[in-house]
Amino acid sequence: MMLIERSFDRFGFADALTAENASVELSTRILRDYAISSVPCAEAPFAFDSERLAVLAYKGAMERVRERFWTTSFLGSGFWGDAKDDIVSANIRMVNNCRALDVVVRRLFLLSLPAEEEIQRIQDQRILLLKCEDLDGLARFDRRFVNLARSIEELSYHGCDVRIVHDAERLHRALPEELNAETRDTEFAIYDDWRFDVFQGELFGAIQSVRCYTPAMARFASYRDRLTRYFESLWRRSRPIDGFLNRLRTTVEYSSCRIDYPVSWLVRYDDALPREDEALKIEELSSVRIELLRLGRWGHVRRFLDVGTCTGRYLVALRDAVVPGGIILGVDNDVDCVRFTQAKLRREAADERRFRVERHDFCLPEAPSSHSFDLITCMLGTILHFQRNGGDRPPYNDAFQRALGKFADLLAPNGLLFFTVWSEQACRDLRLLSIYSQEDKCRLARTAINDDELRERLACVGLRPLVPIPLQDRLVLYRCERDRAIAASRLSSRDVQGEEAHKEIGHAECG
Ligand SMILES: C[S@@+](CC[C@H](N)C(=O)[O-])C[C@H]1O[C@@H](n2cnc3c(N)ncnc32)[C@H](O)[C@@H]1O
Repeated sequence: MMLIERSFDRFGFADALTAENASVELSTRILRDYAISSVPCAEAPFAFDSERLAVLAYKGAMERVRERFWTTSFLGSGFWGDAKDDIVSANIRMVNNCRALDVVVRRLFLLSLPAEEEIQRIQDQRILLLKCEDLDGLARFDRRFVNLARSIEELSYHGCDVRIVHDAERLHRALPEELNAETRDTEFAIYDDWRFDVFQGELFGAIQSVRCYTPAMARFASYRDRLTRYFESLWRRSRPIDGFLNRLRTTVEYSSCRIDYPVSWLVRYDDALPREDEALKIEELSSVRIELLRLGRWGHVRRFLDVGTCTGRYLVALRDAVVPGGIILGVDNDVDCVRFTQAKLRREAADERRFRVERHDFCLPEAPSSHSFDLITCMLGTILHFQRNGGDRPPYNDAFQRALGKFADLLAPNGLLFFTVWSEQACRDLRLLSIYSQEDKCRLARTAINDDELRERLACVGLRPLVPIPLQDRLVLYRCERDRAIAASRLSSRDVQGEEAHKEIGHAECG
């Protein structure tokens, strides 16, 4: 039965209602037949598909547009991200019809954040997928973006005016409450002046329902006019989508390259630094090697810890200093460095059982290991990454000092600690590693530390530095040992503190 004749269908519902009616009739007939015969009489299950009906109702109305089609969308909309070709072609047909009538179709993409932040958020989402190695999620993300960009370009090409806006003033609050305008989840479409639709479900990328208002409903004209004013206000604040889309495209392309990005800066750090930096790295490494040989420690180290290991350069270069069954532990707080080094060691030293690389923030109080180490390195100015903001007099309550304390605690009684700091000269001339951005160079340069303060800080934690070695007047290499007397008093004061802390906890628990 034809529920509504096309000739009476002023509002574009005929297809949706006919489809719904056919589905209800079919289901009723199947149930009736089964009740009589108890014999299965259908192949397909009953399906209640609200999206299909919503789309039919939408397409039906678009075909009738003659004067105006204004609509809002979200970037995450399933219509545009999932390449729903029938919807794109229905839109293009409508845009072409309107163009023939000299009517401009308006599509307004609502951004939940200001444009720049929205772009950043999208980039972060993509980078997160990369970091989590969610390749399916990544492929889905890229596919949606490609579809969205292609659909928008096609619509614009056919004459649709596509723009973006962020409703910073929350203008949607002026809409009638009855429309239930949930900012992040509601799209509107206004068809000439005879219908408007309120779509819900875009938050999930798929239309879940549509409420269609026509003059057949009370208060239609008043709601339509308020919606129209809301749309006009947003439109005045909007800008063409092209620039945003281009920025988004570059961002997505950039984050696609970021699959290599962590790798590429780490690879560059490992193998492709300018000659001056490469020479500095070599000089630093060979100075440590020479010291270990000179002190008769080469080949006798039982446990070696490298803090801020980055690409694991020291782990590999000093492995022969460590005894056969020893421990070689590298820690870094950057997950990219940890992954990169783990992969490199798997590739280059698959049979080596002594290596361990772990993510660990050395500025946190926890120790990276319960062992003590007879060799600790923290090279190429890594120590200056730890913040010094605890004043220039003891007790220096800052991350830098806590890290020094951790070195002292982790160092075995006759252990050696090597670290380098950027020289005051290099900091003045900004001759730091060339892979640092200018901004990071300036930030690092402000961390320059003089020998007096460093010695005082080391003394506070029971570490005794030997004569520092300048490297190319850019770095200064320090070798430290534990000062037994201070280390012992530090330990006993920690014991006392520990006991006091226990007592306090005990009191608190009792109280
Ligand atoms: C200059 S690079 C180190 C280079 C490496 N030690 C070498 O000589 O080849 C500094 C490293 O320290 C790491 N780092 C910075 N702050 C850290 C922290 N709080 N805990 C652990 N690692 C940190 C960085 O992620 C980076 O990999």
